[in-house]
Amino acid sequence: MPESRSLILDGRTWAEVSLTALAANFHSVQKHVGPGVTICAVVKADGYGHGAVECARALESEGAQWLGVTDAAEGHALRGAGVKARILLMTGIWKGEEDTIVAQNLTPTIWEPWHIESLERAARKRQSVLPVHLKLDTGMNRLGAPREALPHLCEMLSASRHLHLEGVSTHFASAEVLDAEDARRQMKRFEEGLAVLQNHGLNPPLVHMGNSAAMSARPDTWKTMVRPGIALYGYSLEFTRGGETAAVAALHLRPVLSWKTRVLTVKEVAAGQAVGYMGTFVTKTQSRIAVLPVGYADGYPRLLSNRARVIVGGEYAPVVGRVSMDLTIVDVSHIGGVAVGDEVILIGQGTGKASGKTVDAVELARLCESVPYEILCGLSQRVPRVYL
Ligand SMILES: Cc1ncc(COP(=O)(O)O)c(C=O)c1O
Repeated sequence: MPESRSLILDGRTWAEVSLTALAANFHSVQKHVGPGVTICAVVKADGYGHGAVECARALESEGAQWLGVTDAAEGHALRGAGVKARILLMTGIWKGEEDTIVAQNLTPTIWEPWHIESLERAARKRQSVLPVHLKLDTGMNRLGAPREALPHLCEMLSASRHLHLEGVSTHFASAEVLDAEDARRQMKRFEEGLAVLQNHGLNPPLVHMGNSAAMSARPDTWKTMVRPGIALYGYSLEFTRGGETAAVAALHLRPVLSWKTRVLTVKEVAAGQAVGYMGTFVTKTQSRIAVLPVGYADGYPRLLSNRARVIVGGEYAPVVGRVSMDLTIVDVSHIGGVAVGDEVILIGQGTGKASGKTVDAVELARLCESVPYEILCGLSQRVPRVYL
């Protein structure tokens, strides 16, 4: 084992990213959508906290032809790391980025006249043709061209000599709600938008709507491309119908990231003692507590105070007291032999004595009234990522 890696594994906290699991999830998605649908593997926000460069390289070597990122800065970082796959900038462009976009063969999502004008100028300067994807706002009211703007944008794109309309897209507000009226409406508006494009002689080959939820459970949205993110990192969405949890044909996915730490110190605390900031937990009996060197500065949310559990010594141990910036306290009174240096699982699956025990990002998210995305993206840069 290289010295730097063993130092990390001996250190206070680290995240293990299984590129094998990432590859397997990618192949599950591929099998699910079949060969006619191109996958744009979303690696924005530093690969949902898993490390964009490492994930992009791994996905590329598994055959991913497209990667989705937020903006030109993220695309630039991937190109700088030698990533050759096509890169879709999903959140538009900023003025001044056009030359970089053209020079680095990044593919912008566009929806405003000035996007077309400025990219056309940049592509003309380099005597090149830049592929672009047009985003339609079909009802989420976030990004994309509204219906009324489409004819003018189509005319501009038709007249353009240096832009090639390669793709058209939209994004769902609530794809995981299987009977959502708004999703049905979005699909209808998207079809209407495609008809406007066709009437202007525009038939982009890449037509895409689906995030992980739509990719998993709504085959009628697949068109010719899907843009899964969270599924690649091993998480299924929670689907509902009629307000109840709904089962959908499960893709075989497994979480890519495990988050670990080690016991920093163990101490006996008498009954009736307050633990941690503001004394929000008071021991009922003589207790043994373990202090973990991880806190909200690492991305372990303070909302997990007195709520979450970890796996240590083959058992679950509850978080007691407030999670602080660098430290979290767990009650290990019921677990024999917990000692300084013992490995603790914050997110992940237990093995050996702890096999069958799991804490995942969904569980932590629920405790924080959040989503697994926020937990995963929230792991701070202070947590070294180890790639397995
Ligand atoms: C435009 C767009 N497409 C695809 C995705 C991927 O979504 P998910 O991670 O739910 O698959 C996102 C994520 O927010 C997005 O903004």
